[in-house]
Amino acid sequence: QVFRLEEYKPSAYRIPRLELDFRLDAQETLVTARMQVERAEGTDVGTPLVLDGDGLSLVGLAVNGEPAGENGFEALPDQLTLRDVPAGDHFELEIVTRINPSANKALMGLYVSSGVFCTQCEAEGFRRITYFLDRPDVLSTYRVRMEADRATAPLLLSNGNPVENGDLDGGRHYAIWDDPHPKPSYLFALVAGNLGVVSDHFITASGRKVALGVYVEHGKEARATYAMDALKRSMRWDEERFGREYDLDVFNIVAVSDFNMGAMENKGLNIFNDKYVLADPETATDMDFANIEAIIAHEYFHNWTGNRITCRDWFQLCLKEGLTVYRDHEFSADMRSRAVRRISEVRTLRAHQFPEDQGPLAHPVRPRRYREINNFYTATVYEKGSEVVRMIHTILGEEDFRKGMDLYFDRHDGQAVTIEDLIACFEEAGRVDLTQFALWYHQAGTPNVIASTSYDEQAKSFTLELEQSVPPTPSEARKKAMHIPLKFGLVGPNGEDMDWASADGAEISGDVIHLRERRHTISFKGIGQRPVLSLNRGFSAPVVLSEQVSSADRYFLAQHDSDAFNRWQALNSLANEALIEAANQARNGTVPGFDDELVSFPAGIAGDETLEPAYRALAITPPAEADIAREIGGNVDPDAIHRAREAYLDAVARSGATQMASVYDALADDGTFNPDAGHAGKRALRNVLLGLLMRAEGSPERGVVQYRSATNMTERLAALMEVTHRFANSPEASELLADFEGRYSDNPLVMDKWLTTQATIPGDGAAARVRELMKHSSFSLSNPNRVRALIGGFASGNQTGFHAADGTGYQLLAETILAVEELNPQVAARLAVTFRSWRSLEPHRQKLAREALATIAKAENLSRDLRDIVDRTLA
Ligand code: ARG
Ligand code: ZN
Repeated sequence: QVFRLEEYKPSAYRIPRLELDFRLDAQETLVTARMQVERAEGTDVGTPLVLDGDGLSLVGLAVNGEPAGENGFEALPDQLTLRDVPAGDHFELEIVTRINPSANKALMGLYVSSGVFCTQCEAEGFRRITYFLDRPDVLSTYRVRMEADRATAPLLLSNGNPVENGDLDGGRHYAIWDDPHPKPSYLFALVAGNLGVVSDHFITASGRKVALGVYVEHGKEARATYAMDALKRSMRWDEERFGREYDLDVFNIVAVSDFNMGAMENKGLNIFNDKYVLADPETATDMDFANIEAIIAHEYFHNWTGNRITCRDWFQLCLKEGLTVYRDHEFSADMRSRAVRRISEVRTLRAHQFPEDQGPLAHPVRPRRYREINNFYTATVYEKGSEVVRMIHTILGEEDFRKGMDLYFDRHDGQAVTIEDLIACFEEAGRVDLTQFALWYHQAGTPNVIASTSYDEQAKSFTLELEQSVPPTPSEARKKAMHIPLKFGLVGPNGEDMDWASADGAEISGDVIHLRERRHTISFKGIGQRPVLSLNRGFSAPVVLSEQVSSADRYFLAQHDSDAFNRWQALNSLANEALIEAANQARNGTVPGFDDELVSFPAGIAGDETLEPAYRALAITPPAEADIAREIGGNVDPDAIHRAREAYLDAVARSGATQMASVYDALADDGTFNPDAGHAGKRALRNVLLGLLMRAEGSPERGVVQYRSATNMTERLAALMEVTHRFANSPEASELLADFEGRYSDNPLVMDKWLTTQATIPGDGAAARVRELMKHSSFSLSNPNRVRALIGGFASGNQTGFHAADGTGYQLLAETILAVEELNPQVAARLAVTFRSWRSLEPHRQKLAREALATIAKAENLSRDLRDIVDRTLA
């Protein structure tokens, strides 16, 4: 079945009120749902009421307090149809279902994770709990009563505010929660179990006191304090930056160890993958801390962008996700270094969204069709969706953007709306026409922009030719010209931006060129000296930019551009071009060679005290193998890319070892740990230098020393990675792996790092190594974090291993996908996405990858999730 945007119809019935009663039991939970149903205007009297279900078994059904007659309804596992609908405008429906939470391995609906009852209802998990109008435009107020064993589940949480609790016979107890804010069913949540808590409170701008709780397994409370701190900072930031206050008396976060995604924004009760809550210096890396801060913020910000204002239907997913990612990006930029965050965001976008947009799974930010909505929680909806909001900000400017957001909150509070509704607010606030701009939501594919410049000294004019095109994608064969806002500067010989007397050929407002036609020839007049163009500053538009630029100009920008992002971009482009060339050489059997200037540049940056360390770390890090493969685009040979990149790093290491060694020593940690961005940046730089120095020294020794003396996970794990990846079969590598296992075998999240480290050791035998690790006691096919760490780490983080020329990597992935599929279709479908770029491989690997995909495709009874991904990938 295919769902289409244009087929949207408002619901024939509404359910303004829902009362739920849970008799919690691991194997046999009884759910009673009493709902007030209203016939919508325009619905004929007697129209059957059709409710969604998923694998449900009905225990009882009553209409207006009377058991429903046998012939008045039909109950199937996936649908309940009430044919005898009372004639009045509204009636009460009571449904009793029985479910088995401990048998729920798909982790959708109500399930048990490490003895804790929890729920995940987005997108369509609520229908695995009871029959309901499980669609985001049906909003209800909820009252939830739950009872459970007091001993195993002393804690009973749901959405909203707690209203009552007490003891029952037989060692049981109950609690009642009430949520005054109408919400769609996907935001329902319940947690029952025995957990420890970190408690705190927050006073909102208007003086309301909110009780805060972060719930984690007993004994892990100390690892939840950073999350609590991030939550309080998020709450304050949303008030200050967007004028958004929290709206309940309590806000709870619960960490669970079995979770399909990162986290979930259920009203007043966010449920998190514990990976994104638990952190301390000994067990979490700086990246973990940064992710926790960002995801805590993301889920909290959903309270307004998602919960108070939600989506009319799932085609509008980016309405809440793109906007909320934009908000969490801005939060992280304010908490940390804006420039460094921007570079990381763009790297993520290019690594995940670009290949999606350029492959068989490409879809518009707002899709028009889907078979399985779970497969649309994508980098396109989230990350490109955020970039689109960022462009609206660029077009409107801060003041009008904020007015547009205020209007949106004002006008649509309590509603389920569409992208058009959001855009209309910005058009009104900014008095602009966003019709053409809206193509960013409707047209898939990464736009290409080609730029070339010329300078006429006589006429003192600088000419910029720009050409845009969007490649065809499965959603649209022919593309319209887009409105692309490109921030820019003309950098003069002294490094400062030059002014111009006049410009024609495109609309230019401030430092933004508005590209609207396929071709623009822009000429800037009154330019006394040849400038160097800095285009798409801050990555203002998510496009692939091809520029005819000399290396000299790139080096100039790398040193002098006032825009930090483009300084980084200039270096990145230089390295990219050299690596692509080197990969060609490696493929032809020649030893890859590099310019002295290029390979000596990093050492200079490493010691440049005028730059923040985190930025230096990013600038020195060359594009990843997967990035180079994406830039090459077709007929890709991962082995050649690997050899080229290794040769480049070796050359960089040789050229600046002495200089880098002194920077490395100067960055030594004083033993006190601070997770903030400044300190994290120093560790990041030191770790990049560690890898280069180990190359220069040709010995694992420095890594072993750093591993042994490390006082935090960031330094210890980096050392482990360098030693095991660079000296894979050395005694040092086995020694450190054994040591790591010994230290952390009781901590599954840290053992995930151990699994990933080994899954990403490059070269032959990688698949066999992963197969061995699948037998290790720390691995489990049913836990999504374990699967992502080992199998996901291998398939997306080990280019030479996964793409081994003998096909063992593809076979392993296909087999594992089919094994995971039996337990958890969503996780299986996610893994299958790693095949998406198979067509850009060289012919031999292409054939092997297609065969592996075909094995999956011909398996019987595939889930909708996996079937959808495999079919589209092969199409
Ligand atoms: N809304 C959640 C978030 O972005 C993600 C939930 C994804 N759920 C799913 N079934 N795909 O914060
Ligand atoms: Zn989200």
